[in-house]
Amino acid sequence: MSKTAILEFDGKKYEFPVTEGTEGEVAVKIDKLRGETGGLITLDPGYKNTGSCESAITFLDGEKGILRYRGYTIEELAEKASFLEVAYLLIFGELPTQEKLDRFYKDIKGQSHVDEEMKKILDGFPKSAHPMGVLSSLTNALIAFNPSSVNVDSEEDMYKAIVKLLAKFPVLVAWTLRKRQGQPLDYGDGSLGYVENILKMMFKQPHETYEVDPVVAAALNKLLILHADHEQNCSTSTVRMVGSSHAGLFASISAGISALWGPLHGGANQAVIEMLEGIKNDGGDTHKYMEKAKDKNDPFRLMGFGHRVYKNFDPRARIIKKAADDVLGKLGVEDPVLDIAKGLEKEALEDSYFVDRKLYPNVDFYSGIIYRALGIPTEMFTVMFALGRLPGWISQWREMRLRKEPIGRPRQVYIGENQRAYVPMDQR
Ligand code: ACO
Repeated sequence: MSKTAILEFDGKKYEFPVTEGTEGEVAVKIDKLRGETGGLITLDPGYKNTGSCESAITFLDGEKGILRYRGYTIEELAEKASFLEVAYLLIFGELPTQEKLDRFYKDIKGQSHVDEEMKKILDGFPKSAHPMGVLSSLTNALIAFNPSSVNVDSEEDMYKAIVKLLAKFPVLVAWTLRKRQGQPLDYGDGSLGYVENILKMMFKQPHETYEVDPVVAAALNKLLILHADHEQNCSTSTVRMVGSSHAGLFASISAGISALWGPLHGGANQAVIEMLEGIKNDGGDTHKYMEKAKDKNDPFRLMGFGHRVYKNFDPRARIIKKAADDVLGKLGVEDPVLDIAKGLEKEALEDSYFVDRKLYPNVDFYSGIIYRALGIPTEMFTVMFALGRLPGWISQWREMRLRKEPIGRPRQVYIGENQRAYVPMDQR
């Protein structure tokens, strides 16, 4: 017999169905709550207890520290797969055969041209503009040059929009960096793999040939896979929400980029390095900063620590920490902030404040140290996160459209003034 949950309100009992996911997660379905009870709704600021959708893409168990894309563990994918393979898996549900992957990449390469007029938009930004703002704007601007990508209803039209975005987004990412650095803009090299091409587009100097360093490419491949999806986080929920109005893929992703920008979300990777640098420049006293993080009168938080869902080690942080040692070793880079990060982690894991609140390093704690070793400037870190998250956002948007989900429109509990009469200006 299927499970139900009973709610008692105003002396009456109401029964609601309980739905169960494939990993045993249970949820009370309350879509009939308001209608049946004559006005009762749920109030859940920050959606800490609210499932916004049923999804078959990513499973995570924050208590056990498990993360899987379409059933495959993040550990196995980060070790064995290519980023494009993972993108295909997330979007279409299965690992591709070589033939399907080749076809997918061929279609992407065929769409990698970004209209020259887009350069004028980029030119309008000052060099000092934050790359996340520039990237979000350029992604939205793509709509003007690809209007057919907006009203997509068929799977075929969705595929075309998806391929266009996967093709053009890395070009925009590279352009935001090159603009900051005063470098000529470039459209990439179709003879290279997806990740290798990203590196070349970002780092090729006008007077030099660019050889892709396999250590750098492998490290970036791993980081992008680790960031590729994380179910209904802030930016992904934003993408689904905007997409639910049928605003189109590019507009939805542009909104997701803005959501990711914040320091409590993807912006934390930049904030972590800035924090570690600050601690280093202040003499490296990690204990002092631990005390600041615990002081409720001090706004300082230990960036890269804590997570809404993980109450255990973020499995991505575990992989990235190991990769940081590995990559820095292989590249012969010595970065003193790695020692500061390890020192902070050690202290936090032994401190009752962090232990009691189940605060562990998250994905952003060590990722910046690797990005830095790869030569990526600090203000580009969150952009790299967006590049990795793109297939996740796309897959969630596609799933939402294919499931014909209704427009997202939460309710509220109004706590403002009751009706009152307009007061003329001279009587206020
Ligand atoms: N440093 C110090 N104290 C912290 C931290 C931290 N990094 N994170 C949480 N806490 C404390 C809170 O002050 C709170 O304490 P209290 O119970 O005494 O009031 C308790 O731990 C619970 O924290 P909340 O903020 O209620 O947890 P929430 O789930 O709302 O927030 C978040 C999660 C935003 C990630 C938070 O841990 C944080 O701000 N971390 C730092 C920023 C960060 O690294 N963000 C990246 C997250 S990963 C990602 O988005 C890709």
